[in-house]
Amino acid sequence: MDRIVVLPGDGIGPEVTRQAQRVLEAVAGKHDILNLKFEEALIGGASIDAKGTPLGDDVVELCRESRAILLGAVGGPKWDDMPVDTRPEKGLLGIRKALGLFANLRPAQVFSALKDASSLRPEVVDGIDMLVVRELTGGIYFGEPREIDRSGPVRKAINAMVYDENEIARICRIAFEAARGRRKHLTQVHKANVLEVSQLWMEVCDEVAKDYPDVELAHQLVDSCAMLLLKEPNRFDVIVTGNLFGDILSDEAAMITGSLGMLPSASLAEGGLGLYEPVHGSAPDIAGQDLANPLAAIMSAAMLLEHSFSAFDAANEIRDAVSSVLDAGHRTGDIVLPGEDRPTIGCVEMGDKVLEALGS
Ligand code: IPM
Ligand code: MG
Repeated sequence: MDRIVVLPGDGIGPEVTRQAQRVLEAVAGKHDILNLKFEEALIGGASIDAKGTPLGDDVVELCRESRAILLGAVGGPKWDDMPVDTRPEKGLLGIRKALGLFANLRPAQVFSALKDASSLRPEVVDGIDMLVVRELTGGIYFGEPREIDRSGPVRKAINAMVYDENEIARICRIAFEAARGRRKHLTQVHKANVLEVSQLWMEVCDEVAKDYPDVELAHQLVDSCAMLLLKEPNRFDVIVTGNLFGDILSDEAAMITGSLGMLPSASLAEGGLGLYEPVHGSAPDIAGQDLANPLAAIMSAAMLLEHSFSAFDAANEIRDAVSSVLDAGHRTGDIVLPGEDRPTIGCVEMGDKVLEALGS
């Protein structure tokens, strides 16, 4: 029996993970290699309310002993005034760090049925298929020192961007491997004209590249990468970068595909443990109203099957089901195309449609 810990979290998190879990159960029912057992636990604001902390040690232990983790989203206005150190987001950052989930994979693809949903012209968007590989447990998110110094006459704050060569090399290897299985093009994104940290990233990435002569490597400044993503998104295959740049560029990559509501992610540790979550946040404005798009969570479940169980067929069945549901014109509110005047469906019904397409 393989345990999957479900961390629904806050806002629309519980709604979308419920649909993803239904899909996993349905697919597991068809493939007897999968014997899944789900266990739910608290994270983020839900955990603050129940236990006074965004991430309990018991939850970290439960996750450590599981095969994979399915997460919804954390955060919301209710906890926005709390100090950074105790907010729901700290639960997410805490679990990434505690479980060593350093490799964050964020694929951005355009479903052909949705290419008109992007704010960019369809011909610019057509065929986008990229993967942002973001380093997730280092850099400025975790660097020391970090503080707001209120002791002097002028308030001062500091965060440090710190990477050692091993952290850089291991994420670059993940990215080269991914590129090898795709179109064999890797873009390393940096700010080496200003930052020493980026200079080290370039150096180390070039060293790792020697083991991957079949992959074409390009270095791109982060500001010009942000621009090129809008101008020619099709030129990108795999992007590798640090934690902060990866956070920003992955939202941009996601949005040019039409909706943040469609994008899944995987965060992997050495040794195989993986956490899977939609890239979108907790969307408190639509939470609890059955309006959320569960497809990013459902496709995160597909990534779970692929990366944690090597169940490639099962993962592809889910993706094909999502694609056919979109081709059939089913839409949640976030992916209605301009000029389309069909009624939208809710989160549960979208889950139903995917299950139907899976033949369940
Ligand atoms: C993400 C989110 C998180 C991050 C927040 C919620 C802490 O934006 O997963 O991209 O910055 O990593
Ligand atoms: Mg982000």
